[in-house]
Amino acid sequence: MDWTQSRQMLERARLSLTGGVSSPFRAKAPVPLYFRDGRGCRLTDVDDNTYIDYTLAWGPVILGHRHPRMVEAVAAQASAAHIYGAQHAAEIEVAERVQAMVPCAERVLFTGAGSEAVQIAWRLARAFTGRNRILKFEGHYHGWMDSALISYKPAAAAAGSEQTPNVVLSSAGQVPNSAENVHIAIWNRVEAVEQVFAAHGAGIAAVMMEPVLCNSGCILPGDGYLAAVADIAHRHGALIIFDEVITGFRMAPGGAQQFYGVTPDLATFGKAIAAGLPLSAIAGRRDIMEQTVTGVVSFGGTFNGNPLTLAGARAALEELSRDDGAALKHANAMGATLRDGLREAARRRGIPCLVTGFGAAFAIHFTGRTELVHYRHTLDDDAAKLRRFLTLLLEEGVNALPDGRFYTSAVHQPSDIEQTLAAAGRAMDRL
Ligand SMILES: Cc1ncc(COP(=O)(O)O)c(C=O)c1O
Repeated sequence: MDWTQSRQMLERARLSLTGGVSSPFRAKAPVPLYFRDGRGCRLTDVDDNTYIDYTLAWGPVILGHRHPRMVEAVAAQASAAHIYGAQHAAEIEVAERVQAMVPCAERVLFTGAGSEAVQIAWRLARAFTGRNRILKFEGHYHGWMDSALISYKPAAAAAGSEQTPNVVLSSAGQVPNSAENVHIAIWNRVEAVEQVFAAHGAGIAAVMMEPVLCNSGCILPGDGYLAAVADIAHRHGALIIFDEVITGFRMAPGGAQQFYGVTPDLATFGKAIAAGLPLSAIAGRRDIMEQTVTGVVSFGGTFNGNPLTLAGARAALEELSRDDGAALKHANAMGATLRDGLREAARRRGIPCLVTGFGAAFAIHFTGRTELVHYRHTLDDDAAKLRRFLTLLLEEGVNALPDGRFYTSAVHQPSDIEQTLAAAGRAMDRL
C-alpha cells in the first residue's frame, strides 16, 4: 500500500501542528494517515487508499460516516444560527430522548467532551456527599484532565501490588496532589472494593468505572460485579458513576446500565451520542443533578448544547431508537460475527489469542492467557505481534485502533465482515 501523500503531509504538518496530529494517541504506526473522506463504513486516505473502518473515529461514528440523516440534520441547522449561547428546542428534545433511552437519566446536562463530563460528574458527587475521594480502577480512562488521568495503564514496575496498587500520575506536568483525592483498586474483584471502603469508606464520594473496561482491552465485568460494587458504595453512603463514554449508545440504546440492569446514580456519555459531532452528556438522579440549579454546584461552558451539535444528536438518537433499537442490534451482531471469526481464525492457526469484549466493541490480544479479568492481565499481551498484525491488516485495507480494538457500526454489512475475516486470515498467516 502506498502512503506517500500521508508521509509528505506529516512532514509538512510537523512544522506547524505539533507532532503533525491533533491528539498524540493518533500518531500511530506505520504512519499516521491523513484522510480526505469517509462514507458508510469506509474511509479514503489522501493516497486514495480505501479502508474498512473499525476505528470509527475512536467510537463516535455509530451510524457510519456521512449518514444521510446526519448530513440532512446538520445541513438544515447550518443554514440557521450556529450558536445562541441561550436556549433552543433541540436541547429539550435531545434531553427527553436521553431520558427515554437511559435508565439513570432523571435529568441531563450537555457539554463538549467526555473529559469535561467526567469533571462535572465528580463535582456533583463531591458536593452531594460532602466527601472528597473518588475510587477509580487501574487501567480505566476517564479523560485527560489532571484529576482523572490517574493509574491509566501504569507500567508494571510502577503499579505496586494487586492488594494495594500505587496511585500513579499518568503525565508530566500533572498537579501532583491530584493523586491525593483518588483511591485505586484492581477492577473486577469485589473484595478489592470492600477493602478500600473498609479502610477509607467515610471519605469516598463516588466509585467511578467504565462498566466494560473498553480502554484497557475491552474486558467485560464478571457476573454480578457491577451490582455488587454499587451495593458496597451505597452501603457506605457513596455514589456509583458509570463512565459510558464508549458503552453509551453502542452496547445498547441505554448503554451498559441497560444491558446489565444496574442503574448508576450518575453516568457520563460522549462519542456515539451525536454520531460524530462533539457532544458529551451527564445524566443521573434528579436530586444530584439539580445541585446546578441553585448554583450550589457551578457548571458552565460557552459551547454547551450548541445547536449544530444538538441537531446532529437529535437525528442520531432518533435513528438509534428506531425499530426497537435495530441499528445497535445490527452493529452488535456484525461485531459478534467478526469477533467470533477472529477467534476461530487464530485457533485454526494455533496462534495464542483472546478476543474480548461485546459485539460492537472488542479487542484482539495475542496472549497465552486463557482469560483477561483486569488491566494487569493485558500487560502480558505480545505488543509487537499486535503491531505487526495491525500493520498487515492496514495493508489489506482494514483499519483498527492501535490497541487492537475494533468498533462496528450500524452500517457494516456481512460482506464487509467476510472481507475483513479473509484479510485477517492472510495477516495471521504472515505473522
Ligand atoms: C471511557 C472514557 N471516558 C472519557 C473519555 C474522554 O472523552 P473525550 O476524549 O471526549 O474527552 C474517553 C475517551 O476516549 C473514554 O473512552
